[in-house]
Amino acid sequence: MKLNTSKTTLSIIALSILSISTSTQAHAQNFLKKHPQINPYQYEVVKEKAFDHGAVTSAHPLASMVGAAMMQEGGNAFDAAIATQFSLAVVFPGAGNIGGGGFMLARKANGEILGIDYREAAPSKANRDMYLDEKGNVIPGKSRDGASASGIPGSVAGMISTHTYAKLPLAVLIEPAIEFAEFGYVITEKEAKGLNSEKANFLKNSSAASAFTQKEWKAGDTLYQPELAATLKRIQKNGLAGFYEGATADMIVKEMEHSAGIITKEDLKNYKPKFRKPLEFDYKGHHIISFAPPSSGGILIAQMMKMIAPFGIEKMGYNTEASVSLMVEAQRRAYADRAEHMGDPDYWKVPTKTLISDAYAADRMKDYQPGVAGSSKITQAGQVHESEQTTHFSVIDGEGNMVAITTTLNDTYGNKTIVAGAGFLLNNEMDDFSVKPGVPNMYGAIGGEANSIQPGKRMLSSMTPTLVTVNNKPYISIGSPGGTTIPNQVYEGLVNIIDHKMTLKEAVDGPRFHHQWIPDVVAVEADFPEATVNALKEKGYTVTKRGRFGRMDGVQILPNGKRTAAGDKRGDDSVAGY
Ligand code: GLY
Repeated sequence: MKLNTSKTTLSIIALSILSISTSTQAHAQNFLKKHPQINPYQYEVVKEKAFDHGAVTSAHPLASMVGAAMMQEGGNAFDAAIATQFSLAVVFPGAGNIGGGGFMLARKANGEILGIDYREAAPSKANRDMYLDEKGNVIPGKSRDGASASGIPGSVAGMISTHTYAKLPLAVLIEPAIEFAEFGYVITEKEAKGLNSEKANFLKNSSAASAFTQKEWKAGDTLYQPELAATLKRIQKNGLAGFYEGATADMIVKEMEHSAGIITKEDLKNYKPKFRKPLEFDYKGHHIISFAPPSSGGILIAQMMKMIAPFGIEKMGYNTEASVSLMVEAQRRAYADRAEHMGDPDYWKVPTKTLISDAYAADRMKDYQPGVAGSSKITQAGQVHESEQTTHFSVIDGEGNMVAITTTLNDTYGNKTIVAGAGFLLNNEMDDFSVKPGVPNMYGAIGGEANSIQPGKRMLSSMTPTLVTVNNKPYISIGSPGGTTIPNQVYEGLVNIIDHKMTLKEAVDGPRFHHQWIPDVVAVEADFPEATVNALKEKGYTVTKRGRFGRMDGVQILPNGKRTAAGDKRGDDSVAGY
């Protein structure tokens, strides 16, 4: 298997389809037989393509193809999204999940907008100091490692709520995931490396060995997940009760005992997704719709785009010192507000209206001086009166329904605990709370009371599924993984398209930069223009190079009505459609 970056295709050849054990043959191949073009043992990454009807971009070719197939079978963008999410839980276990949570943002073809929050919630036994020792110090790793780091998973409930807007039976939408789990799929080099590097953690944190730990993996191996297939079949048969009650719930609660986890059967049974009114704002003739708290993403992109709007960035050039320093100064100010003002709106009064107002944006930029590096010691949160690892996928169907979903286990492979007998990974989303005021989480983000732990509360997120319309017509569905870098990625992606007139593919691939107030550093990707790095340093910015961040995926409607889909060059992200 090799990655051919010039053609941006990845050919994956199965070692042997014949090695499927006979014991896995009990479940008929209903989906795979019907769709011979979807071959889990040989598939390609397709980075960019325009389609006449519907399109999907996700982190894995098989998951994107499943979404497209559901639309071809008569389903809409919601059907495609549900089938893609369940498939990602199998073929992209590092972030695709049923043991985590996410946000579903949609705009129906009739203009109705919807936000479903299926973010994990703190268990009923959680308390604000649960990750501190008797001296009040943070216990290293406790909010990240093992079952004690888990919030109550929301993904299955989220997908079942999303199903209200779909056309095909839920059982049909889950079927491809079951078949990938039961009959196996060929893993990529990235997946093989990921599983090998976490093997010791999987074994340490889980109460039993699992499909992931059976061998040292290499590209081209086939991964079978029979326990996960059985869990998915329980969901297929019993819906919510197939996950939140009965055998699956029993297994989750049993797994808690292994590393002092606190999720109870009642916590699982009581979990409910919440409808959130999406956040909307206008930017230079574009109407932008994004996710409201408990995501910080929608507020942040609204703040940052409003802060830069008056400065004529379109004339400053792409990734020049002038455009980057302007955008960084907006990042600094917005992320300072994130740390102070944002949390679960059911537990903390988030001053959303003020934060995204034009007047507040203008006030925050009053001390901005072009060409002068700001300082996070001076810039604090505004006074107001009132694994980098996650995955994003986008769908636009033939009718014009748009869906953007970002879903996560938090870190890559979550807390590295596989629920024994149930075959899925648990999240370590509790680390997204502020476990102690001023102490950074795994993304280096700090927070305070707004994001402190309380039973039932949802931890502040950066996930930023985003939709754009122009003249009230569907235009773009976009988003990315990457912890606190996510809002900045979406902000940069939208500015690339709207101000720098880039294609969707150019916009998602372009080298990125990230500033999050604290630390007071502009982090740039390795291929960021050297001249801009030097010019920023001359102005007084601290600039550090870091590895690639995010995997931005999107679908855009072109003026000719075609749906063009683009998968980020940074991963195996792949597009499909019809
Ligand atoms: N766990 C990453 C986020 O929700 O921001």
